This record gives sequence, structure tokens and C-alpha cells, in this order.
Amino acid sequence: MTRLVITGGTVVDQQGERRADVAVQGGQIVEVGPDLAGDDVLDATGCIVSPGFVDLHTHLREPGKEEAETIETGSRAAALGGFTAVVAMPNTDPAQDSVAVVEFVREQGRRAGLCEVLPSGCITVGRNGEQLAPYGELAAAGVHLFTDDGNGVQDPQLMRRALEYAKPLGIVLAQHCEVTSLTKGAVMHEGSCCSRLGLPGWPALAEELMLFRDIELVRLTGVPMHFLHLSTARSVELVRQAKAEGLPVTAEATPHHFTLTDELLESYDAVYKVNPPLRTADDIAALKIGLADGTIDAIATDHAPHAPHTKEAPLDQAPPGMLGLETALALAVGELGLPIQRVLALLSWNPAAIAGVADRHGRPVQAGEPANLAVFDPAAEWTVVPANLASKSRNTPYAGRTVTGRVRHTVFGGTAVVRDGVATR
Ligand code: DOR
Repeated sequence: MTRLVITGGTVVDQQGERRADVAVQGGQIVEVGPDLAGDDVLDATGCIVSPGFVDLHTHLREPGKEEAETIETGSRAAALGGFTAVVAMPNTDPAQDSVAVVEFVREQGRRAGLCEVLPSGCITVGRNGEQLAPYGELAAAGVHLFTDDGNGVQDPQLMRRALEYAKPLGIVLAQHCEVTSLTKGAVMHEGSCCSRLGLPGWPALAEELMLFRDIELVRLTGVPMHFLHLSTARSVELVRQAKAEGLPVTAEATPHHFTLTDELLESYDAVYKVNPPLRTADDIAALKIGLADGTIDAIATDHAPHAPHTKEAPLDQAPPGMLGLETALALAVGELGLPIQRVLALLSWNPAAIAGVADRHGRPVQAGEPANLAVFDPAAEWTVVPANLASKSRNTPYAGRTVTGRVRHTVFGGTAVVRDGVATR
């Protein structure tokens, strides 16, 4: 059995930081210490060796929109981004509201063998917001996170029932907060920029109203909830308050929401159209504070590939969404100004716990643990070139931007699936 050693790096995990080599054999970490030898070496000089990242929010598009992404191409993008597990969003076609579809998604992920693909389940059948999905069957099939992402559940009574049904199963409901009667036809954040451009706006209130409602439903039912892609300052404050009151809520923010503003829409380029929309500099400042102080638990990509011809359409017709897997680490390391250990909490062990995979991802780097690891150079500068991305789509908002922090190797299940920035499968 090959013994793989990662040499010359600095290990950072929830236990701290130390200079150490890491030896991997049979899918597990077998030794952590100085000057280890092995049959196969991954050089980590100047790099951080950490638990692999976990993305709570990836659109893999298969089944249904394979022209934009497949489970294989999306998993490759994930591995190149340092992710060893991704939660696959359910807005596929057919939607992930049946055991057959979630088993298909998981199996395609297994075949690709680049990271663990964790299918989410729908909150409602077909994500239509009318009838609850079969949680018992889906939970028995190993689904932990349920969401109608792309849609928020509009009916408060249905959402209350969803929480009550979720309770005995120990599953987590994740909300895309959007009151759609406030966002019809919207293409960007409602604010001064949107008025200047004369475009229909998506008010911050549409997110905050549903977030407020659901925090109150958590209070009523006592059932935990996760909130997807927070984008406004007031949302951060609502979650902060809920946590201070001891309510079992968690939240995520995306790299694009903490790095880009609505002013980019002045270009009328649909690459900047996303749901929820890019907000203001004040919202970015609030998200950054929330990421630093623990209000926001995780960085999630909302990797949303769209085929080029769809994004070339006028703003009102183009679909919302942007790529995220291959740039997340750089934006987190380079733009947040946080200690590396906090960045890793946000990218690795916190989301691993929310996704229900803390038994195998986001683990401390020590002997006996599963070998799911990321090795990255926090100081490496690189320029984002869409054509070089592994995703099947090209809709990155960072094209041409020089960013800092690059994944060098990713080890998944004991295998180096990325070596020196190149996917091995
Ligand atoms: O921008 C977005 N794109 N937000 C969503 O909620 C859905 C996603 C998609 O599926 O493209």
C-alpha cells in the first residue's frame, strides 16, 4: 500500500498550528510529525496543510442541465478549490425530491471520485412550495440538508409544518430567504445604483422579512435552521440577535457577497446578476464583521454555473448565478483579513458540522483520521482566467482579477486528486 507524505508544510486545524509532515495510507492519516518518509511525496513548502473544505452550497446541474455543469466537472472544480465534500443543491431537473434522484447524484459523485457529493433534498415536492417532500425516506437514504434553494418557502404554515416534520428526523432545513412578491422582475439590489440605472430592484427587505419570519418559527418549534447566502447588513444583525438569544440557527455567506458591490451592474453585464443580488459596501462591511465574530458560521460558494449563451442574454432574461468553487479559498484568504484558522473554520469544520459530515470531513489533522485534506499556499498570487477553470461554464465575476491564495494539492479519501494545481482524474 502506497504511503503518501505531505512534506514541509504547516498544519493548521481546530487544534492549532504546527510545522509537521503528514503521512497517509489506506485512506487514513497514519502519522503526523517531523521528517516523515514515504513512497510518494507532495511538497508543501510554504503551504498550509488543513482539513479539506466543505461547501454547503454547490449547484452541480446534473440531472437536467448538463450543458452548464456535470457532477464530474463540478466535482473537479471543487477538488481544485480544495473542497473534499460539497452539498449538491436540489434545483436539478428532476428536482432532488425522491430517493431515486438523490441516489443518482450520490452515485455520479462516487464515480467521479474527486470529492464527496452530498445530495440535498427538497423542502417541498418539485420545489413548488405546496407539498412537503418525503423527508423520512430521504433521511433514510442519507440526506441531511433540505432546501428549496433558488426558491424560498413562501407559506409560513407550510414552513412551520416542515420544521415540525424535520424535528424527529434530526435533519436540517436551509432557507433561501426571498419573499417573491417583493422581487418580481428584479435584476439587481434595490438602491441608489438601481434607481440611476433604471432597473427593477430586489430590496434587502425581501430577504430580511423571510429571515425574521423563520427565526420566529425556530423560536416557536425549537427546530434548528440554516440560512443560505446572507447578503444584507440587517440579515447579519438578525442572525446575531437570534444567536444571542440562544436560538439554534446557523448562516453562511458567499465570497461574491463579501467582495463585490451592486455598482458592477453599471456594466449591464449579466455575469454580475445573482440571487440574492450583490449589495452595497456597507453590507459587505457587515458580512465581514459577521464572518469574523462568529455570527456567520460558514463561507459557502453558491457555485452556480450557467452555459455561456444564457449569460450573454440581456439582464432581465439572463439567469442569476456565478461560479465559485475555484476562487473561494483565494477570496477568503485574500479579502477577509482574518487569521488562517478562522478562515478554515468557515471553510472546513463549521460547514462539515452543518452538513452532518463532521465524522469524516473537517477533522483534526492527526493519526487515525480520514485523509481528506487541502494543501494551499496562502501567499501565491494568480490571475483568474475563465478558460482555465475546470467548470464547464465560464461565468466567473473575477475574470482578469489577480487574487492571493492558491490550492496546491487536495487529498480525498487518501488519494491526491489534485497535485500541483492539476486534477489527477
Ligand atoms: O444566483 C443564484 N443562482 N441564486 C440561487 O438561489 C440559485 C442559483 C442557480 O441555481 O443558478
